[in-house]
Amino acid sequence: MKIHILGSAAGGGFPQWNCNCSNCDGLRKGSLRGQARTQSSIAISSGANDGNDHWTLCNTSPDLLQQLRNFPEIQPARSLRDTAIRSIVLLDSQIDHTTGLLMLRESTQPLRIYCTEPVYEDLTTGNPLFKVLSHYCKVDWQAIRFQNDQCNFVIPGSENLKWTAYPLSSKAPPYSPHRNDAHVGDNIGLVIEDSLTKRKLFYSPGLGKIDDQTLQIMNDSDCVLVDGTFWRDDEMIRLGVSKKYGRDLGHLPQSEKGGMIEVLNSMKKPRKILIHINNTNPILNEASDERKELVRHGIEVAFDGMEIIL
Ligand code: MLT
Ligand code: MN
Ligand code: ZN
Repeated sequence: MKIHILGSAAGGGFPQWNCNCSNCDGLRKGSLRGQARTQSSIAISSGANDGNDHWTLCNTSPDLLQQLRNFPEIQPARSLRDTAIRSIVLLDSQIDHTTGLLMLRESTQPLRIYCTEPVYEDLTTGNPLFKVLSHYCKVDWQAIRFQNDQCNFVIPGSENLKWTAYPLSSKAPPYSPHRNDAHVGDNIGLVIEDSLTKRKLFYSPGLGKIDDQTLQIMNDSDCVLVDGTFWRDDEMIRLGVSKKYGRDLGHLPQSEKGGMIEVLNSMKKPRKILIHINNTNPILNEASDERKELVRHGIEVAFDGMEIIL
């Protein structure tokens, strides 16, 4: 299987348009060692390498058009109107993960979108993208429904990939009736297993708490591509850019007791990569002590255009 990182930043991207924190300002002025990042989304294909690959997008960020332009492989040019995007899986209904759908409205086929019922509800009410799209290409909704805390599916065209969605503890968006009343299915994590190579990816750009099931799934994966939003829980408060803690937003910080570094350190098998990095996070500065600490722990930081083969 082939994984292409379309975007690796959290909501707002890096640098964020209205932010002059030391990271955003430093990147603009060229005084920070680092690179710009668009909002997180990944594309996955069977890895057939036959020039006829189908890609599935996991989340669609508002930066999608730029991301697709930077990724020529996803435009095979077999006909006047063409795309190698076969389907879309949404992990939640947040703005940074869904509004790219509007950029796909010229699709000649209804968009085949896999998501849970709570996400479908948000996308037809508080953030009614599916309703808007019903006036354009239309949405072919494929419901993700859990049985025994998981949902298995195969996407036509990439039969070697076995998808499993799991409910996760993170946060529904502010316009959701579930914002302060979490429901199963507000957020999911994905395991994608290639039945040819037997290798598994775990993907979760929003991970608030890591329960036993999630821990076991991560341990059993060959690569974990997980929530790298914040270094510290009070990072945005310290910088004076927000009054919110990372955990209030459903994001486990990397440092501190019980944080992501500690969790990842307990795992031997998987390659460890952080994604959905907020522009305030010191790890975006490649010369920072925090970034060096990640390197010491063998933890990588996803970047736009990164490719992973499993
Ligand atoms: C989040 O990950 O918490 C949200 O994307 C934040 C946002 O959209 O502003
Ligand atoms: Mn986000
Ligand atoms: Zn910033």
